[in-house]
Amino acid sequence: MSKTSGAGQGVIVVSNRLPVSLECAGGTCHSSPVSGGLVTALTPVLTVNKGTWIGWSGAPDVEGVDAALRLFSQETGYTLQQVGLTHEQIANFYFGFTNQIIWPLFHDSQFECNFNPDYWQTYLDVNALFACKTVESGNADDYVWVHDYHLMHVAKYMREAGDNRRTGFFLHIPFPAVDSFRRLPWRSELLNALLEFDQIGFQTLHDRRNFIQAISILAPHVKVTGRGQVVTAKVGGRTIRIGAFPISIDYKKFYRTARSAVVRKQAQHVHSALPDRKIILGVDRLDYTKGIPHRLHAMQKLFTRYPELRGKLSLLQVVVPSRATIPLYAKLKKEIERLVGQINGEFSEPGYVAIHYQYKNLNFEELLAYYRASNIALVTPLRDGMNLVAKEYCAANVERNGVLVLSEFAGAAAQLRNGAILVNPFDVEGVAAAIHQAYMMDEGERRKRMDRMRESIRKNDIFKWVDSFFASAFAP
Ligand code: G6P
Repeated sequence: MSKTSGAGQGVIVVSNRLPVSLECAGGTCHSSPVSGGLVTALTPVLTVNKGTWIGWSGAPDVEGVDAALRLFSQETGYTLQQVGLTHEQIANFYFGFTNQIIWPLFHDSQFECNFNPDYWQTYLDVNALFACKTVESGNADDYVWVHDYHLMHVAKYMREAGDNRRTGFFLHIPFPAVDSFRRLPWRSELLNALLEFDQIGFQTLHDRRNFIQAISILAPHVKVTGRGQVVTAKVGGRTIRIGAFPISIDYKKFYRTARSAVVRKQAQHVHSALPDRKIILGVDRLDYTKGIPHRLHAMQKLFTRYPELRGKLSLLQVVVPSRATIPLYAKLKKEIERLVGQINGEFSEPGYVAIHYQYKNLNFEELLAYYRASNIALVTPLRDGMNLVAKEYCAANVERNGVLVLSEFAGAAAQLRNGAILVNPFDVEGVAAAIHQAYMMDEGERRKRMDRMRESIRKNDIFKWVDSFFASAFAP
């Protein structure tokens, strides 16, 4: 629980998605809580101060959503408010501007961008809706904390409506280098809208540096001064704080649950289903930023270059369904399935499958059992804001003998370089060599590396993240 915010500060959280999942039929909706680091960290803050969470329900607005949210609010002790979106807004705002422009652009995949001007207009309209709902919510001295790339214009519209409450913004994804950012037709509008927040947080110092560089080129009238984790920018008479606040996980929850009998049993089950071999694990949302085909090519290279490893090592690749109606995602799914088939055709034998592929959601215990059962985790995104799978794997590795192979382009690399084998995910031979190194690593070395990573995650957990964001936001 956040120490800073516990001191009576009211908070409004604004994010694209609400922390609930709703199932609606015939005018009635049933809600169930969504778990995840952000929800875990912010729930105590909102509950203590009877705060508000504003977001989209995840589906077109239908009858029954508000009633379900009221019921959910009574149970959780804080208020949930939905911003209802039409089919067209969902198409142009969520599937359009955020997922076909900002997502690829900010993840260095600018050639995947579809700079459709209609998407931009709807992005502004939907941000105005979120701002309007925020203006009507909470108390006069509440702090408004807006999350992620979907909502970069909220502070601007709040100010235009005369709402001058303190605002903060946290970007969960990377901020691109200025040469990529400049391709955005609406780059100046977006940058200036971000500068309407009182505090802007990034995952890493690298992202913050990119942002400051964008300011220096596209908004040279803004003066940035200071050093360290948080610097300040002067815009007109206003002072904005710009900081790096690497997000984390609820370490204790992962560690404790991973040690439970249920998880231990499930992990044993995974082991006995895949006997006499080491297990490499990949768990990713279906997304081209995660580098899944590159990883599969690295496995192919591994078995070709080190034929003695055939039969001794299997990749367990879980792909969690996501944004599947966007053509690029559907295409990626096909590509993954084709590659898995090809590699298995080449290296599997009776009693041995080289790649076990699953396209599904895992529940918390299943996920932890996979973490516990795996000897090596392959976390090789081409670009990632943070990547919490890397941190979760370490926290759940209660035997402390697993090896993390981690992309240098994941935000997590900044904190886990003390124990992970860092790789360039585009370098297929390098990744194959890193897997070989992980396979050969002796137990003492594995333990030493894992202990170092676990300790830094334990010390810098999700609650510390909330505290450090608020400590900076409320600093005199
Ligand atoms: C990333 C983003 C989140 C987003 C999540 C899932 O982690 O930073 O804001 O919610 O992906 O994507 P989705 O499009 O399903 O919300």
